[in-house]
Amino acid sequence: MKDYWWQEAIIYQIYLRSFFDGNSDGIGDFKGLIKKLDYLDDLGVDALWVSPHYESPMDDNGYDVSDYYKVSKDYGTIEDVKEFIKEAHKRDIKVLFDLVLNHTSDEHKWFQAAKDPTHKDHEKYHDYYIWQSPKYDDEGNKKPPTQWRSWFGGGVWEYNEPTDEYYLHIFSKKMPDLNWRNASMKRDLKNITKWWIDLGVDGFRVDASNHLEKNWKFPEAHPGYEHFSSLPKHHDYLEEFGKELFIPNNILTIGESGGASQEEALQYAGFDSKEFDLLIQFGHCWADSDDSNKLTEGKWAKGHLYVKDIKNSFQRWNDMLKDKGWNLIYWHNHDQPRVISHYGDDNIYHNISGKMLCQSLYFMPGTPIIYQGEEIGMTNVDYKNLHNFRDVEVFTEYNNFKQNLTPEPIAMQALRDRARDNARTPMQWDNTIHAGFSDKTPWINVVGNYRQINVQKESQDTNSILNTYKKVIRLRKELNVAFGNLEFIDIDNDDSYIYKNELADKIILSISNFRGKHIGVNFDFDISGYSLLMSNYKAQVLAEKMLLKPYESLVYIKNKEV
Ligand code: NOJ
Repeated sequence: MKDYWWQEAIIYQIYLRSFFDGNSDGIGDFKGLIKKLDYLDDLGVDALWVSPHYESPMDDNGYDVSDYYKVSKDYGTIEDVKEFIKEAHKRDIKVLFDLVLNHTSDEHKWFQAAKDPTHKDHEKYHDYYIWQSPKYDDEGNKKPPTQWRSWFGGGVWEYNEPTDEYYLHIFSKKMPDLNWRNASMKRDLKNITKWWIDLGVDGFRVDASNHLEKNWKFPEAHPGYEHFSSLPKHHDYLEEFGKELFIPNNILTIGESGGASQEEALQYAGFDSKEFDLLIQFGHCWADSDDSNKLTEGKWAKGHLYVKDIKNSFQRWNDMLKDKGWNLIYWHNHDQPRVISHYGDDNIYHNISGKMLCQSLYFMPGTPIIYQGEEIGMTNVDYKNLHNFRDVEVFTEYNNFKQNLTPEPIAMQALRDRARDNARTPMQWDNTIHAGFSDKTPWINVVGNYRQINVQKESQDTNSILNTYKKVIRLRKELNVAFGNLEFIDIDNDDSYIYKNELADKIILSISNFRGKHIGVNFDFDISGYSLLMSNYKAQVLAEKMLLKPYESLVYIKNKEV
């Protein structure tokens, strides 16, 4: 077992735009983040992953970068960034920035030159992106090279009249994909990366890292994800970055990739990997998608929650990386709904289920990433109108719903259940106007429940979700929870979530009910010697047969026999 600082660290994800507004413009920023560092320190976190802060037209809230060397004026100045790094380090908190290498903004100077044959730098930059000539239909009308579908809905190709070509964008049309086969482009990205390393960052989360390579034969397919996801050559690119930049500079890297096999998981995040240290995977994220629903496709249709799918995914990843690499554990990030609305109950069992979600996940081994606001049980939005939403993905998908003739109430409910904006509303600091996030109207509305759910209120309540998070974070460190071995003992049960985490000298037994009703559980192993560590109702003694109350969660511990 290797010994890296990040194995026992708690990472906390900051969605900068919505964390805290330090300059009264309704948008979160570095000045605001600096003001809240003491809160984060007190919570017990060791590293912050900050969403993209670079200059950007904000089509995708900063994942569309127009200048990697500049800080977005929404978020502050380079001096603010330096101050933030200094202040975080003073508190022994590491700083991880988000590195967007798959695409730029269409307003980036590279793309401006690439798309314009009269631009003086056209020749150099044209091949920084991915271009294809039009196809033609029977009537001689231009049509895109393929029917590949973008991750945000709609096609991946956008026509560019001046060159009579289409460019590829697997996200929004304002985010053209970079051509990683172009050596000069790669050199430029390496210089950018080195520049931020030299500024003092401790690590990066590498955005969309499994999409860097494309199938350059551009075969016809729909949706065609296999032609721009996880192609073998992207590992070469990542390894090149690892060897030249990340490893020599002792930089923590977190990649992002869905659906990896064991071989690939180790390739990304094995201890011997030259690519990343940790990997964000999504196996547990959509355990309640209703694939049979034809009105709203994929993640948008919410159905039965398969608790066993969540457990199977975590167990699978634990086993794949066991002794050979290291796992990340997290409920959700800025791309998925709020976990309490998703897998818990944001209504009558708000407090109970929020604590259950904390206790069920964070006594597992690995490195946790807590998403801002999760620690107070922030919920999905209560928006009534399409215009309340801000995310570019919402609008392209909403058009799809309309084309599929999805009735309006179903479309709006899909957004309230599944849209990424659910996780992006302003952090709820207190019960004053705009939840204490800003004294100006925020860029996106706060959720109406901020008077009941906020940091100030929960700090003062020993029984709050926030205080449960604090306690669990402290216990994780005291007990070395990160270094245990995970074994679910109810893997096929679809209501309960029960595992042992075997540590060097102790065994943790975590028992949770993921349903809003009573469930019975039986144990057929030796239950002697356990004492209660945490519970979200009044304590229950561990017994061979137990009745768990709605969303009840009990954590027991015992010394290992020697
Ligand atoms: C993944 C990010 O998490 C998401 O928010 C973004 O839209 C895409 N990559 C494109 O950068």
